[in-house]
Amino acid sequence: MSTDSAPARPAADRAWSVADVALIDEFVEGASGTAAVRNEAGWQQWSLVPRVFRDVRRISTAWTGFGLALRAPVLIAPTALGLVHPQGEREAARGIRAAGMGLVLSQGSTFPVAEVAEVSGPFLQQVYLTQRRDALWPFLDRAVDAGATALALTVDQPAAGVTLPFRASLARLAAPGARNLGNANFVGVPPADLALESRIELADIGLLADRTGLPVVVKGVLHPDDAVAAVEAGAAGVVVSNHGGRQLGGTITSAEALPRVVAAVGGRVPVLVDGGIRQGEDVLRALVLGADAVLVGRPAVRALRAGGADGLRAALETLRGELELAMALAGTPDLAAVTSLGIRHATQTPY
Ligand code: FNR
Repeated sequence: MSTDSAPARPAADRAWSVADVALIDEFVEGASGTAAVRNEAGWQQWSLVPRVFRDVRRISTAWTGFGLALRAPVLIAPTALGLVHPQGEREAARGIRAAGMGLVLSQGSTFPVAEVAEVSGPFLQQVYLTQRRDALWPFLDRAVDAGATALALTVDQPAAGVTLPFRASLARLAAPGARNLGNANFVGVPPADLALESRIELADIGLLADRTGLPVVVKGVLHPDDAVAAVEAGAAGVVVSNHGGRQLGGTITSAEALPRVVAAVGGRVPVLVDGGIRQGEDVLRALVLGADAVLVGRPAVRALRAGGADGLRAALETLRGELELAMALAGTPDLAAVTSLGIRHATQTPY
């Protein structure tokens, strides 16, 4: 359906070869140009201006939004979690839930949505528009039944960005007996019906909302005018994102794009952001710049791969601990007070 949900993972009962591992690396770390690397550096360009004389004995990172009550304003971005662990998204969901964070489940999940939701509890369902909208309806009905609290409509993939090199083609990875569950949610649907839509319209936001009764968050906006258009068309939130640098490789970073989107949206709906967020201070920078919450992509995939649910939980708890410490050091006891902190871009005159 999309390169982002590409290669099939090996079946649980087949050991991964060195070649499999290399291909998975290539896919997970894949980027189209320099944007993925610049995303990480983009946060470093913003320097916090801490405040003192504040009571930071008790810090709360708790956050609620889109029907989720989380221990921190952190959600796991829709990614190929199923590719790096035999229990895929179910294993990831266990770790995410134990850490008290949120899951945005990829449409290309390697387990059907209901099987992931059993483990995850409330979650957001990511959606890629297909040319045949009705090919999505049975899947979306199941996502609603499974307890999705909102949809995340990815709008920055009207065509595939990162393309797999020939040696990582599906045929090469799909060993005998491997379950090609990149399509777990679309069993029996002819591949032609799942062709990606290259004409994503603002009206599709309302279409999905009407069809499912769920709020629709628009993922993959960099220009403030697009964010405003999405909000005016009924979006319940926007995610500032360049898809982890996997679409256009030469875009501005999400850290650069965020402030103007926040200003344009003007508090009408929550603004989320992803791309290059690697440590608690990055989360705090995003919040000070006006984001309501952040998504993390590759770090979650790496942690799941290295240590399963426990490894992912530990990584997310570390991130939350870093955020808590950063908030104390910066002088803000809770998320509401975060925007009273100062922040300065490297190109601006000293504070
Ligand atoms: C993604 N991303 C993605 N986005 C989406 O909307 N649907 C998807 O199925 C996928 N799949 C996917 C697979 C892999 C392996 C990666 C790395 C990324 C993009 C993802 O949701 C997110 O926008 C970025 O990963 C965020 O950047 P960082 O945190 O990886 O730097």
